[in-house]
Amino acid sequence: DKAGHKHFMAKEIAEQPTVIAEAIRHYLPVGEDAVHLPGDGIDFTKIDRLTLVACGTAFYACLTAKYWFEKLARIPVEVDIASEFRYREPPIPGRTAALFVSQSGETADTLAALRYCKDKADQILSVVNVPESSIARESDLALPIHAGVEIGVASTKAFTCQLSVLLMLALKAATDRGEIGEEELQAHVSALRGLPNVMSAALEQNEAIRQASLKLSEARDVLFLGRGLMFPLALEGALKLKEISYIHAEAYASGELKHGPIALIDNNMPVVVLAPRDDLFDKSVSNMQEVMARKGKVMLVSDAEGLAEAGDEVWQAIRMPQVHDSLSPILYALPAQMLAYHTAVAKGTDVDQPRNLAKSVTVE
Ligand code: F6R
Repeated sequence: DKAGHKHFMAKEIAEQPTVIAEAIRHYLPVGEDAVHLPGDGIDFTKIDRLTLVACGTAFYACLTAKYWFEKLARIPVEVDIASEFRYREPPIPGRTAALFVSQSGETADTLAALRYCKDKADQILSVVNVPESSIARESDLALPIHAGVEIGVASTKAFTCQLSVLLMLALKAATDRGEIGEEELQAHVSALRGLPNVMSAALEQNEAIRQASLKLSEARDVLFLGRGLMFPLALEGALKLKEISYIHAEAYASGELKHGPIALIDNNMPVVVLAPRDDLFDKSVSNMQEVMARKGKVMLVSDAEGLAEAGDEVWQAIRMPQVHDSLSPILYALPAQMLAYHTAVAKGTDVDQPRNLAKSVTVE
């Protein structure tokens, strides 16, 4: 049932405020100020490092989580693609927790990577949407994301729910390790509780994003740029666009621009810049100017303050509401998804069942 939407993907994009609220309620019950984990949880004072492993969109959720775990909890984090990890057979030092992220819980490479870690890591954790799945069953601790059934092949609500659960896990780690003060924790908790409303406000940009997508749908190639927490999201935005619109899209950390990809910039190259007005904003603006100086067409996704500062030379501007810095990847996932969705609809592709793709990759 598409609940009045044209595609499952549109429905799943639209229901994110509701499912995120659900995910947050499970880990931050109303009236409580600390993160609660199911079962025996995990004690992060006994862990010195984390290894995060996944495929595709779930891998980008892991890349984002690296920033959170390192910044908030000061835990060194390694992130790897499951198909690389499993055959590289990396050494797993003592006091390592291995964490696997999978919507389906059945992805063959991720499951194999988990099995490799079984008698090597101190604890096996998973972040899954299907609690009865193989990955959940074979973990010491499975953390459900509460996204509900996801039908669209391109992951949307599972991604933002994965991010929310990973952020809450990072907050738990930060608290266990005494790396975060009460005040900072409460700032995160109240920002998380307010997130569903902010997401609803972002969804109101749907029509503006649809308009912008009509222009994007004429492109042959699109570049996505982001810094810090926006870098993994740039990767996710590019993946989403190529998956369903079949437009070639690539993502780079903004600082890498002059190390190669700037050679691609001309007046046919749309460049989507994901840049909330945070500590790194000025750096992103200078990268944007480098693109515009070479006639690249910048589509800037930022908040009101950021858009004002960037000036009116940008090709297209997409306005997001203000959000706590740590939560920006969860919020900015929405315009990335809407952009891919409307571009694909404009091109007339099969949005829910893109060619050559399967929802669950149970063979390698
Ligand atoms: C992209 C997408 C895929 C999956 C990947 C992992 O939109 O959906 O990249 O994220 O195949 O799948 P799971 O999370 O089920 O392990």
